[in-house]
Amino acid sequence: MENIDWGNLPFGYFRTDYNVRCYYRDGKWGELEISSSEYINIHIAATCLHYGQEAFEGMKAFRGKDGKIRVFRWEENAKRFRRSADGIMMAEVPDEVFERAIMTALKMNLKYVPPYGTGAALYFRPLLIGTGAEVGVKPAKEYMFLVFVGPVGPYFKEGFKPVCVQLLRDFDRAAPLGTGHIKVGGNYAASLFPAARAKEEGCSTVLFLDAKEKKYIDEAGPANFFGIKGNTYVTPESHTILPSITNKSLQVLAREMGMSVEVRRVPVEELAEFDEVGACGTAAIISPIKKIHDRETGKIYKYCDDGNAGPLSTKLYNKLRAIQYGEEPDTHGWCTIIS
Ligand SMILES: Cc1ncc(COP(=O)(O)O)c(C=O)c1O
Repeated sequence: MENIDWGNLPFGYFRTDYNVRCYYRDGKWGELEISSSEYINIHIAATCLHYGQEAFEGMKAFRGKDGKIRVFRWEENAKRFRRSADGIMMAEVPDEVFERAIMTALKMNLKYVPPYGTGAALYFRPLLIGTGAEVGVKPAKEYMFLVFVGPVGPYFKEGFKPVCVQLLRDFDRAAPLGTGHIKVGGNYAASLFPAARAKEEGCSTVLFLDAKEKKYIDEAGPANFFGIKGNTYVTPESHTILPSITNKSLQVLAREMGMSVEVRRVPVEELAEFDEVGACGTAAIISPIKKIHDRETGKIYKYCDDGNAGPLSTKLYNKLRAIQYGEEPDTHGWCTIIS
């Protein structure tokens, strides 16, 4: 293994030694297989290639202060993975198979779990694809479940530094009654162009509005949006938003910190009323937002006057990070400890 610069890892693909695979055939899941290949061999008519039968997950394990490895809320990812499979008619991966696969992938690649104190983590990418051959538009009869892992740094190169986001109206990532609530590849394909354009135009990511009326805040790129107003944590409710496990965790912590939590539609105009805003997800926990640029109207919403994240976002970020790295007690049983 080459020397890894743990403190400067990007959020990207990193080759590790092994990945884990499992196949669904004849109506049932087979045994787990361990592979050292980075490639898969699939049929040219596999439904994942033609009709988007593909779902994935993203989750992390952390090396704690005590040297132990903590896998964060994997049960929630397993549940969401099943919902994604169900939403596009793929065979669901039972939680027990999911657990064995991620734990095997972790144990086979232990040396890639970044050391405590580097700010890095081991990222898991569970993937489910339709591998059965079909030419008519219908679900496959065969599936492949795969888990690979790799050490990652923060998603945004700014880390916990506030970022600029672009609010847009000329693209949607998901249709009003479509697949925005599940983690399937098509949603991400639809987001590639607006995200790349936003970067070209100087912003880190995009802020989508609801696809139907363009009146309410939806997703913040590949993350959920939240705003803080006084002592209240506000986050949008919508069928097109992926239920974020980080967001769910932050809501619990916000309540414990004495804040109130509102999960509801968030009209665009309310952006002017928030004291702090951010994007949240596994990759960055919280990416504080310093500026929202409305691409169409030219309006700019500004936050973080002093250039730093707001006090409540910082408190929430530190609290969740401390639980993940074993610096504070895990009173909710969110971490599975691997000894
Ligand atoms: C579209 C989208 N929204 C939100 C999230 C955040 O979800 P989580 O906190 O479970 O990582 C992600 C990342 O997984 C995402 O891709």
